[in-house]
Amino acid sequence: MDNQRLTLCSPAKINLFLQVVRRRPDGYHDLASLFQTISLVDRLTVALSDTDSLTCEDPEIPTDRSNLILKAADLFRQKTGIKTSFCFHLGKKIPIQAGLGGGSSNAATALFAMNELLGKPATIEQLMHWSAEIGSDIPFFFSQGSAYCTGRGEHVRGLPPLPRKELSLIKPDKGLSTAQVFPQVDLTSLPPRDPERALQDFAKGEGTPFNDLEPAAFAAMPELVALKQKLVDAGCINPLMTGTGSALFCEGEIPASLPGQKYTIHFINRSDEEWYQDS
Ligand code: C5P
Repeated sequence: MDNQRLTLCSPAKINLFLQVVRRRPDGYHDLASLFQTISLVDRLTVALSDTDSLTCEDPEIPTDRSNLILKAADLFRQKTGIKTSFCFHLGKKIPIQAGLGGGSSNAATALFAMNELLGKPATIEQLMHWSAEIGSDIPFFFSQGSAYCTGRGEHVRGLPPLPRKELSLIKPDKGLSTAQVFPQVDLTSLPPRDPERALQDFAKGEGTPFNDLEPAAFAAMPELVALKQKLVDAGCINPLMTGTGSALFCEGEIPASLPGQKYTIHFINRSDEEWYQDS
């Protein structure tokens, strides 16, 4: 790092479990979910500049003001009163429309980087709190990588690192948008859950993943049903969709013959002082 420029990892997340608790009057859903950062990362370079700009080699990524990175820059200036602008370059590896939180992670990483470059005018707790205004999944990334999230997802209870686990991940060619999935959830059909019990099980490395959003996502994208079955047939253990999909993760090796992007991942956590590191 020099004083003017910083390049940081921006990790993806998976939801090891996700319970939909209720539909709220404001249209959001209260959740109870165990979030975990993983070793699939983007790279974000942030520098001080005269005007805001964002570049990315991937033409699928919008680089206009709809991108959460530029929303994060506006939020940072609004909250701190600091007038500086920033130049961002995003090295994109995390698939979009996957339920992997890539855009949210980029926004959190941008906030952390801007704050570092300006000599830490805000605390991590402030960044976490502010970030909920631009996305429900962003505050989680200010934990140390393992957290129990409730409310819209913005109430974050940080947890000690979970036992290390190697997992496989597949992102089908087609994606799903968050707004496509949540309205389709049928709350009356969801099984009763005990998230505190599930947390204890995962802390021991014994939890069984679940995601209440699967039926809604599978209705919107029926090919996910077949994909999950193929993973089971191939001997993969507990294949499960992350977030609102369309990516699935499981234990065991995903056959190379299945179409889509495939990754081997493990959990990562950050130390108190630093942002997430490559591992
Ligand atoms: O907060 P965020 O902008 O990421 O949410 C995108 C959309 O996802 C919301 O407009 C809402 O439809 C849905 N959502 C939800 N419940 C949540 C989080 C998101 O219904 N807990």
